Amino acid sequence: MINLFINISYLTANTLMILAIKMLSTPKTARLGNLIGIAGMFWAIAAALISLHLSDYITPIIVIFLGGIFGIYIALKVKITALPQMIAILNGLGGLAAVFISLSEVISQSKNDISNITSLIIGGITFSGSILAFAKLNFPRWSKSVRFPGQYIINLILSLSVLGFALGYVLRNHPEAFYFLAFMNLLLGFMLILPVGGADIPVVIAFLNACSGWAGVSVGLSLQSPVLIVIGTIVGTGGTFLARTMTKALNRSLLNILIGGGNSPTTEIDNSPKIANIGSPADAAFIMQNAAKIIIVPGFGMAAAHAQHALKNMADILRNKYQAEVKFAIHPVAGRMPGHMNVLLAEANVDYADVFELNDINNEFQETDVAYVIGANDITNPQAKTNPNSPIYGMPILEVEKAKTVFFVKRSLGNGYSNVENPLFFAPNTYMLYGDAAHITEEIVKYLEA
Ligand code: TAP
Repeated sequence: MINLFINISYLTANTLMILAIKMLSTPKTARLGNLIGIAGMFWAIAAALISLHLSDYITPIIVIFLGGIFGIYIALKVKITALPQMIAILNGLGGLAAVFISLSEVISQSKNDISNITSLIIGGITFSGSILAFAKLNFPRWSKSVRFPGQYIINLILSLSVLGFALGYVLRNHPEAFYFLAFMNLLLGFMLILPVGGADIPVVIAFLNACSGWAGVSVGLSLQSPVLIVIGTIVGTGGTFLARTMTKALNRSLLNILIGGGNSPTTEIDNSPKIANIGSPADAAFIMQNAAKIIIVPGFGMAAAHAQHALKNMADILRNKYQAEVKFAIHPVAGRMPGHMNVLLAEANVDYADVFELNDINNEFQETDVAYVIGANDITNPQAKTNPNSPIYGMPILEVEKAKTVFFVKRSLGNGYSNVENPLFFAPNTYMLYGDAAHITEEIVKYLEA
């Protein structure tokens, strides 16, 4: 009877998780999807606890409770701009959990099956790789791609030793081989991420997210836990698709990113004299209230300034009071995480029907009166098309320069994430609106309302 209950609970947990992922794919259902995911995880934990037939349930419940409190604290505290770092740490913890389970299986049962070794290998690489990825994202001075002569040979030797120790342990069952394997493996994870440059780290985080899922699958196979296998597969495939979507958006391959194949961020300064047109909120309001079509291009600065509510307000006024057609254009890597802009616009209740992906809107700029580029930079930079030495070369961009007038809302002529100068700032049809994205937009709203 109890086994039937456990199996039904696992089935329920799996179904809820799959439903949650489905609902998380659109902003309209994402909140409910999140709640369903929480319920699924609750069922999975409850069923796993019951299936263990423990004599003491108090200790695991206290541990889960303390972990839960810590998780809620972090989720409430983390800034939305620091979400990729948080995901890196969570991936790392997933990898570490796989390593600990694998170690405990070896220590308690001398378990040397392939799935236990696989969870150690994938989990270890995920753990040390994620810690380095976190450091690269969080501390700009560590973010550079680190390359040195012989690096790939060292990585090859490390990979072969990991394989050798793994085989040694599986075939001969020497615990020493297992501990060497664990150590080499952590080193390998670190070495693999070392050449990846800062701008590519988010892709690697999606890749490590997939790895943490596959580590979960290996643990599930080793412990014969169907729920871990199913949820691990969901995380693994989700992360793999995400990494694939991001590499496609950047026009790169995952291998190219992992070997640090991108051009290095450049700080080269073109010293030729250039003058940027400076506009004011009053100018912007005047031009926009006479515009028939406006496309808003949000980027990282919109997120940093929390300008989405002011932006929604501005779009509503332009539509309702001035009968302008207003659309939002989203680049796949705008901001600092996939879907970053979509989430923020949805939070401000921007209608999803007004939000367009790059491929669906790019050919509309030429018939647009105003492109309002708010806190975005790299995703509009034509160097991605024209300069083969640029780190962003090959990335598709939003072609805002084709609009009659372009407003860039930002605090300075400073560069974006890729540290590449944007020649559009000096184009004759561009006007710079210097200031915080939320403040400038609120000022424009005041003029539009007057
Ligand atoms: P960026 O190119 O990073 O440009 C953002 C601009 O926002 C900066 O130039 C900055 O200029 C401005 N800014 C910052 N705070 C602001 C504020 N409070 N008010 C107004 N402006 C502000 O952003 P993007 O165009 O969104 O491009 C994204 C970049 O990040 C790409 O290079 C992409 O590859 C990379 N990336 C993407 C992801 C994903 S998955 N989305 C993850 C990691 C990295 P000022 O300093 O002059 O204000």
